Amino acid sequence: MSNRREFLSLATTLATTLAGTLTAGLLSPPAQAQPATATTTATATPVAGTPAVGPFALPPLPYADTALAPVISAQTVGFHYHKHHQGYVDTVNRLTAGTAMAAQPLETVIRTTTSDPAQAALFNAAAQVWNHSFYWNSLRPDGGGTPPLALKTRLDSAFGSVDACRKALLAAATAQFGSGWVWLVADGDQLRVIRTPNAETPLTQGLKPLLTLDVWEHAYYLDYQNRRADYAAAVIDRLLNWEFALSQLG
Ligand SMILES: [Fe+2]
Repeated sequence: MSNRREFLSLATTLATTLAGTLTAGLLSPPAQAQPATATTTATATPVAGTPAVGPFALPPLPYADTALAPVISAQTVGFHYHKHHQGYVDTVNRLTAGTAMAAQPLETVIRTTTSDPAQAALFNAAAQVWNHSFYWNSLRPDGGGTPPLALKTRLDSAFGSVDACRKALLAAATAQFGSGWVWLVADGDQLRVIRTPNAETPLTQGLKPLLTLDVWEHAYYLDYQNRRADYAAAVIDRLLNWEFALSQLG
């Protein structure tokens, strides 16, 4: 296939995606699935000291590196955010340099590449950027506890109780084989707990993410070594940002 034909094919795909996005925007309010800091476009504010190397930028961490300690140490946050998350951003910039993708919102890059084996590297990096931004927003210092009433009512309806939801999140975290993510999602009117392997994200599954828990080893190994269940339980009980979940529910 010629380069010209490949370009025309990509341009057609992007034009179709963009047209769909614009149409959806005209017909309905903006989707609430994306956290405020998850969209990494040219307008995102890079972290101080992080050189801008492309149109996609690392969203600011919503708190200090030390804010999640002692549940998640500043050392883990430092490596996780400044090295891993930044690394995914750098990869997206490298793989989109000089292509039409560089001008697209991150969510469009993810949805465009998700089913294309030839674009697996870009999908993985782009989805990891989005998933990590969502993860940081899913946590907060002094989190956990009782969700806001509007969310608690939905959790009670879906799981029977908040504690049952907590147990479902913990079970998913321990059941996920290898690297991946645990999610509280809205599936239409129903709330569910799901898990995704590697970089996979509910964004491509027609689901609305509400919260996520990173269960890649880099998220916990410095603090908990092989004890993933201890990491997951501590995060669920002491760091989950239920207010953020409610804000995503819309
Ligand atoms: Fe991670």
